Amino acid sequence: MKYEIKKEQVHDTTVDVVKKMLESSDKLNLKDYDATYKNFRWEDYYDEIKWFERGKTLNMAVNAVDKHIGTPVENKIAVIWESKDGNVEKYTYKQLYELSNRFANVLAKLGINKGDRVFLFLPRIPEVHITFIGILKTGAIAGTLFSAFGYDALKDRLGHCDARVVITTPDLLERVEHIAEDLPALEYMIVVDREGKFEDKEVKGKKELNYSSLMSDVPAEYNPMMMNVDDPAYILYTSGSTGKPKGVVHVHGGALIQHLTGKWVLNFNSDDMYWCTADHGWVTGVVYVILSPLSNGMTTLFYEGRFDSEKWYSLIEKYKVNIFYTAPTAIRMLMKYGDELPKKYDLSSLKHIYSVGEPLNPEPIRWGYEVFGRYFHDTWWQTETGAQMIVNFPCMDIKIGSMGKPFPGIIAGIVDDDGNELPPYQEGNLALKRGWPSMVKEFWNNPKKYESVFKNGWYITGDMAYKDNDGYYWFMGRSDDLIMTAGERVGPFEVESALIDHDAVNEAAVIGKPDPERGQIIKAFVVLNKGYENTPELLDDIKRFVKQHLAGHAYPREIEIVDSLPKTRSGKIMRRVLRAKELGLPIGDLSTMVK
Ligand code: WT7
Repeated sequence: MKYEIKKEQVHDTTVDVVKKMLESSDKLNLKDYDATYKNFRWEDYYDEIKWFERGKTLNMAVNAVDKHIGTPVENKIAVIWESKDGNVEKYTYKQLYELSNRFANVLAKLGINKGDRVFLFLPRIPEVHITFIGILKTGAIAGTLFSAFGYDALKDRLGHCDARVVITTPDLLERVEHIAEDLPALEYMIVVDREGKFEDKEVKGKKELNYSSLMSDVPAEYNPMMMNVDDPAYILYTSGSTGKPKGVVHVHGGALIQHLTGKWVLNFNSDDMYWCTADHGWVTGVVYVILSPLSNGMTTLFYEGRFDSEKWYSLIEKYKVNIFYTAPTAIRMLMKYGDELPKKYDLSSLKHIYSVGEPLNPEPIRWGYEVFGRYFHDTWWQTETGAQMIVNFPCMDIKIGSMGKPFPGIIAGIVDDDGNELPPYQEGNLALKRGWPSMVKEFWNNPKKYESVFKNGWYITGDMAYKDNDGYYWFMGRSDDLIMTAGERVGPFEVESALIDHDAVNEAAVIGKPDPERGQIIKAFVVLNKGYENTPELLDDIKRFVKQHLAGHAYPREIEIVDSLPKTRSGKIMRRVLRAKELGLPIGDLSTMVK
């Protein structure tokens, strides 16, 4: 593909527009965005995925894996796993099929039924794919948990939806045991010990069972459960700006848009090698590491280790990665290591590169072009949307800095607080017309909260944006206090709750503070209890405490000790006042504040 850069006036700024000159060798799955968008009806694309009964019943796992059995794809490699020590394991679609069947049989034998919640608390190891797919086959609801979660984060999530089973490793097991007494519904911990040493035992009334023994004891055939399009498939807990995290429930019918976004946005072609760096603890991992690439018969690289610039470049070179999907923070971290390092590697295999999770500024896009010879294509979506919604398609010109245009079948709009649509260039709530195949079906046990996110037939995303005259969307920020740090979503309330549990902390308020690398960092304002002094040791101890109780990624990197917090007369902490002060911005209306 060749590019030409043109300048264009958008609103009050001049932006670069990347015009693409397609060549015959560019195999694009979607060639004409406008025509496809205009005529699009979901039912015209039903045959893209596997149903039991067309348009009515299906199973996301059958669509992802079983449908390939008996086709040439069955012996293709579905997942190439590289451990952090450099060990490599490869799993064909056939192996994934048999192993997930076995795991479904394991769950059936333990008495797990349709609708029960079964959670993965695992690092990035091949058992992620196997167990996730296996759970879906039984009709149970699969949940995932980020491996950096601490006691309280685990307890809140597993407890809230009464999980019956947690699949984990010997390393992570202690964290589940620590809170086991507070989880009355939890019956089993299935322990994946890659060294094979784990012995079954009972701790605090919960059975801890060795995964390998369970798997060797059951057949490799299984009859997957037939599910309705709106039957739950998986649940992901995600933070809001108020209260504890919500359980976002997604349905089997989402398979259709998972498949189509992979095909049209990520441009999955069967001979391409694909790598998405997201963790399965978050929605990007569930949908674009596991479900969408499998549905499209892709080979996916699954790397256990964390971010490491040299390692990442070497993986792209070693596996000849063609399609790469990552996050702005990761791109900025790669940038930090400079332009010389990537020159040591052959990165010419890359054909399509994408980003998600936070605003993708022009600078990393330009840098990406220098280093990879490609432009990062930004994609916008959320846990609640279940699939990419507003994207830059390979066939479309990109206006650098824009999130792109709505996926076919998705009607987007900018609306005021009553749900009335606003004209181009006017900033407002980014909203989506209610009712696409992967829209959040419910928030677990919280119908009131669920209805509150809809206005006048629109799903209100919580993001602020505007659209331009050509229908491109431009991200402006959040309408609430939600924090996105290094692409990970953190609710201030959860962090404040963890802080208050520390003996020294009397009150706490948490904001996102802009950070050149991580987008935002978490900053806490803390009022100390009597008898405690503001020392570096105390601040370190508070940080350590939050890491252990909440999560390794969700602790405040900055803590400022203050005498009091700004509050409304009804006692609500005014985070916006702290944010404005921190950023040196106008503080706004203070009429409700206690002086
Ligand atoms: C929030 C959703 C599902 C993707 C991973 C994050 C922010 C996401 C972009 C983007 C600017 C973005 C929004 C959104 N966000 N993509 N391309 N540009 N902001 O999913 O954890 O549910 O967070 O991430 O604020 O509401 P999530």
